[in-house]
Amino acid sequence: MCGIIGFTGHLNSAEVLLKGLGELEYRGYDSAGIACFMDGGIRIIKSVGKVAALKEKVPAAFVSSCGIGHTRWATHGGVSEVNAHPHSCGKVTLIHNGIIENYHELEHELKLGGRQPSSQTDTEIAAMLIDSLYYGDAYQTIKAAVDKLEGAYAFCILFSDQPDVIYCIRKGSPLVACSTEQGSVVASDMVALLRYSKDYFILPEFHIAKLTKTSITLTDLNEERVEPEMLSVTWDMSAAQKNGFKHYMLKEIYEQPEAITRTIAPRIKKYTGEDSKKEYLLPDLTCDNIPDSLFSDINRIIITACGTAMHAGLMGKVLLERLLRIPVTVDIASEFRYQDPIMDRNTLVITVSQSGETADTLAALRLAHEMGAKTLSIVNVKGSAIARESDYVFYTHAGPEIAVASTKAYTAQLSAFYILAFRFAYAKGCLAKNEVSNYLQKLYDVVLSIEEVLKQADYFKKISKELIHTENLFFIGRGMDSALACEGSIKLKEITYIHSEAYAAGELKHGTLSLITEGIPVIALATQSNVLSKMVSNMKEVRARGAMVICITTKDAVIESSLYDFRIDIPATEDIFAPYAAAVALQMIAYYTSASRGLDVDQPRNLAKSVTVE
Ligand code: F6R
Repeated sequence: MCGIIGFTGHLNSAEVLLKGLGELEYRGYDSAGIACFMDGGIRIIKSVGKVAALKEKVPAAFVSSCGIGHTRWATHGGVSEVNAHPHSCGKVTLIHNGIIENYHELEHELKLGGRQPSSQTDTEIAAMLIDSLYYGDAYQTIKAAVDKLEGAYAFCILFSDQPDVIYCIRKGSPLVACSTEQGSVVASDMVALLRYSKDYFILPEFHIAKLTKTSITLTDLNEERVEPEMLSVTWDMSAAQKNGFKHYMLKEIYEQPEAITRTIAPRIKKYTGEDSKKEYLLPDLTCDNIPDSLFSDINRIIITACGTAMHAGLMGKVLLERLLRIPVTVDIASEFRYQDPIMDRNTLVITVSQSGETADTLAALRLAHEMGAKTLSIVNVKGSAIARESDYVFYTHAGPEIAVASTKAYTAQLSAFYILAFRFAYAKGCLAKNEVSNYLQKLYDVVLSIEEVLKQADYFKKISKELIHTENLFFIGRGMDSALACEGSIKLKEITYIHSEAYAAGELKHGTLSLITEGIPVIALATQSNVLSKMVSNMKEVRARGAMVICITTKDAVIESSLYDFRIDIPATEDIFAPYAAAVALQMIAYYTSASRGLDVDQPRNLAKSVTVE
C-alpha cells in the first residue's frame, strides 16, 4: 500500500517521479505528492486525488535533479492535502509506507519538546522525530530513529543540508533500488524501476541505502558496507502497460493462458516409459527445490491467505484432500494468529500471496515458523518478504498484476496447487504414473478452454447490461463450484460495488432463500458433474422464487432451459479442471458489469493493491 519513488541523477527528477507515481498508482490513489531539491531548498507539491491531479499542479519549470514522490492509501488521517506525503519538519522531508504503531507516544514526547504537527498522520510524527535527532549525521540519526520507531515502515528521506542525496530505510514495507548511468532510483516496487533497469536489489530490512547521482551505498546499522544482492526481472515495460486494452484488468484476464503456461510448463517434464514406447508427463519440482519429503513428513496442512489468494487456497484444499487424503484447513490470514491455531512440526503451512507483501499473511507465516511448522509459499513477486521468509517457495509466473482486482494471479495460484497436488499424490503413490500424466495433459488443456471462454466477450457484455442496475446478487455452487462462488462474488463486488454473496447451493434453504425475490440475479455454477442433479434442484428453488438465473455450466450438461435466463457454456472437461474456465467467465462478468456501470475498473474506490498494513 502506498507507492514510493525517489530519484537522484541526470534527468529531471520531477518527471521521473510523476511517471513513477503513475506506474505505482495501483498501490494507493487517495492523494499524491512530490518533494524536490530546488533553488537551494526543498519544494513540495501535493494534491488530493489521483496522480493526474498532481501532474496538473506541477509547473513545467519545476526542474530538479533529486526528489521523492508518494501516492497514498490513507491509514492515519483522512484524505486531504495536509495529510498527503511528503511530510516535512525542519531539515527533514520524507515519504513513508507503513504504520508507525507508537506514534501517539512519540507525538506526546515531541509535543513536550515544543513541536506541533499540522497533519493527522503518523508519518509527520516520524518526520518530527527524525528532525529532532538530526545534527548533521544522517546515519546516526536514522539509527537513533529506528530505535524509537515501532511498526512497519519504508522511508525515503531528504535532509535539506545534503542536496541531491536520498536516504532510505525499511522494516516490513518493501523498497527496491537500482543504480544506472542516468542516476539512482528507489521505489516500492519493481514496476517503477523497469524503465531504468531490469537489475535491482531489495533493500534489506534495517539497512540504510544512500542514493547519490552516481551510486547507491548500502550499509547496515553499524555503518558497515554491505554488497547488495542483485536480482533481475524477466519481463519488460510492456508487461506492465495496457498494450491497447482499455483496462489493465481486461488485459490481465486475456493474459491468463500465457500466465498459466509459464507457471506449469517448467514444472512438467516428459519421460519415456521403460518399454521406450510410451511418453509420460510427470510433475517435477526440482526448479523449486521442493523435496517430496515435505509432504510425507506431515499429517496436516493449513492454507492461509487473504481475499482472492485465500479463495485459491479453498480450491487447493479440495485438490490436496482429494488426491493426498491429508486433512487441509483454510484460514483467513487476518484471523489466523488470533485464533490460537494448532500447529507443530508435522504441520505444513501454505501461504498464498500475489504480492508476497500482505501484512496479515506475512504475520501468519511468522507465527507458523515460531510454532515449528514447515512453510511453503505460493508467491508471484520474486524476492518478496513472504517468499524470503518461507522454507520453500513456489513462484507463480503470472507477470506483473496492476489491476487491483486479481485475475491472472488467481489462476496462476490455482495452477500451483494443481502441480503440488499432482506431484505429491504421485510421490506418495496416491496416483499412478499414467494417471498423473493424463491429469497433466488436461492441465495443459485448460488453456484452450480459457481461450474458448474469452471468445464469448460479446455474450458477457450482453449479460452485464442486465446487471447494470442490480443492487444485490447471489452466487451459488457445490463442491469446487462453491469455492469458486466465493471468488466470483469478491470479484464482482470489489469492482462493480454491487452487494453479492456466495453460497454453497445446498445451504440456501437454511436462511438465504428469504432474500431471493422476483428478479434477483443468481449466478449458478453448475460445472461439477457429481453434484449436477443437486445443483439443478437448487436452481429450481431459486427459479421458483422468481430469480433471474445466469448459469455457468459445461457444454455437455443437460439442464432444462426454463431454469435459466442466460447459459454460459464452458468446454466439457473432467470436473477438477472446470474451475479455470468458469473463473474466467466470472471475471468477464465482473469486468463488463463494472465497465458498463462506468466505474473505475482498475482502481476501485477505497482499495489498493498490496495490503501492507494489518
Ligand atoms: C481481490 C484481491 C485481493 C487480494 C488480497 C491478497 O481481487 O486482489 O483480495 O487477493 O489482498 O493479496 P496478495 O495476494 O497480494 O497477498
